[in-house]
Amino acid sequence: MKYSIYEPLEDSYFFKDFLIKYLSKILIKSHLDVGTGSGILAKVSSKIIGKESVLATDINESAIENLKDIKGVKGIVSNLFENVNGKFDLITFNAPYLPLDKREPKDSKIATTGGIKGDEISLKFLKEAKKHLTKSGRILLLISSLTPFNKIEKYSPVIVARKKLFNEVLLILEFME
Ligand SMILES: C[S@@+](CC[C@H](N)C(=O)[O-])C[C@H]1O[C@@H](n2cnc3c(N)ncnc32)[C@H](O)[C@@H]1O
Repeated sequence: MKYSIYEPLEDSYFFKDFLIKYLSKILIKSHLDVGTGSGILAKVSSKIIGKESVLATDINESAIENLKDIKGVKGIVSNLFENVNGKFDLITFNAPYLPLDKREPKDSKIATTGGIKGDEISLKFLKEAKKHLTKSGRILLLISSLTPFNKIEKYSPVIVARKKLFNEVLLILEFME
């Protein structure tokens, strides 16, 4: 399916800045960026580890077409890990994390709404992600204080960064293999 591509916003820039610092401290050889949108996170790692070591995915075909045309990063259309093979040292996901708001247009809902409560896509992602991690691999997941946390907490996250916005706090969670 084709939707508008998510234009980078505060969440994207917060995650991008964090990722630059994170990758200056840890060594990774492969990166899977789930829900890549404009490719902002995949672009960061491709400059550091080389674009052949980065795979970007999105459920939105337009995002992947845009990557092929402009950025030169490998991309595949995939609903979470459906079409993903292999294991990665780092998996990132700036997830759609908001609870359902029926007034939101379908075109932007795909990028923002994480399900009825807001945590459903993140939980499905976490359930599947560990199968795609190398030994000592890491997951970084961005959610918000508006996302229910009680079920996500069962995956033992460490909150590695926070950013306060007007009506929410963005959280970057790290999970280890
Ligand atoms: C909040 S946007 C983040 C985009 C980009 N990574 C950024 O930081 O600007 C969430 C992205 O996840 C994608 N997405 C939503 N559901 C998905 C799913 N089930 N599988 C893969 N990607 C999904 C959306 O199309 C969108 O590009």
